[in-house]
Amino acid sequence: MLVDDLYKLGLNMKWGYTYHHMPRLLEYAQKCEYITEFGTGLAPHKVDGHDKPMVSLFGLYTWLKARPRKITTYDICFDPTIRFPYQAALEANIELVFHQLACIGYDHKDIEQILIPETIEKTDLLFIDSNHTYNQLTAELTNHAEKVSKYIIMHDTEAFAYGTSWGSMEQHHGKDLGLATALDEFLLVHDEWEYTLYDKASAGLSILTRKM
Ligand SMILES: C[S@@+](CC[C@H](N)C(=O)[O-])C[C@H]1O[C@@H](n2cnc3c(N)ncnc32)[C@H](O)[C@@H]1O
Repeated sequence: MLVDDLYKLGLNMKWGYTYHHMPRLLEYAQKCEYITEFGTGLAPHKVDGHDKPMVSLFGLYTWLKARPRKITTYDICFDPTIRFPYQAALEANIELVFHQLACIGYDHKDIEQILIPETIEKTDLLFIDSNHTYNQLTAELTNHAEKVSKYIIMHDTEAFAYGTSWGSMEQHHGKDLGLATALDEFLLVHDEWEYTLYDKASAGLSILTRKM
């Protein structure tokens, strides 16, 4: 399948939340040559109306459609469905690299540990859509933002603004810690970044832009 077909497929699937953000993600991705994603979406999960658990590759379909030079994507799970984006990338002459951070199966939801890549290559856009906890996002931002030249985009920032993905709350100084707390704390000490978009719809999308 070609990159344009995968993008259309994603848009027409209309389940989950990320598909809603695809046009906006595409707009940003088209200004970038190097794109990095934390949370490819290879953990299959049950979707209403489907017999088999589904993977969620809306971001990846969008990055391919933008035809950058290189896409690097990370997940803790693996699913053979990734062969379709690989074939499309090959046809479109896009370098696609997938890294599995840990070999964690379907029940990874219990895992609250922080898992981030040790280092990443320089990139224009970093999309963060992995394990939605305060600790994970704090680690992702503090360790890897310096490698990003243009945009950091985060999904689910409304759904998990205060509290974590998997239901257990992290209490700290009387607050429920979540993605909003991690983001606010990061911006307090990184004034080279500014908030340029906050969309509450479809679980929330936040965009930081590096100041010129
Ligand atoms: C919400 S899905 C990602 C959806 C996908 N980005 C999309 O656009 O459709 C979250 C994914 O993050 C993965 N994940 C969880 N913890 C992670 C981590 N520490 N690093 C990278 N990926 C992680 C899960 O296995 C799952 O596939």
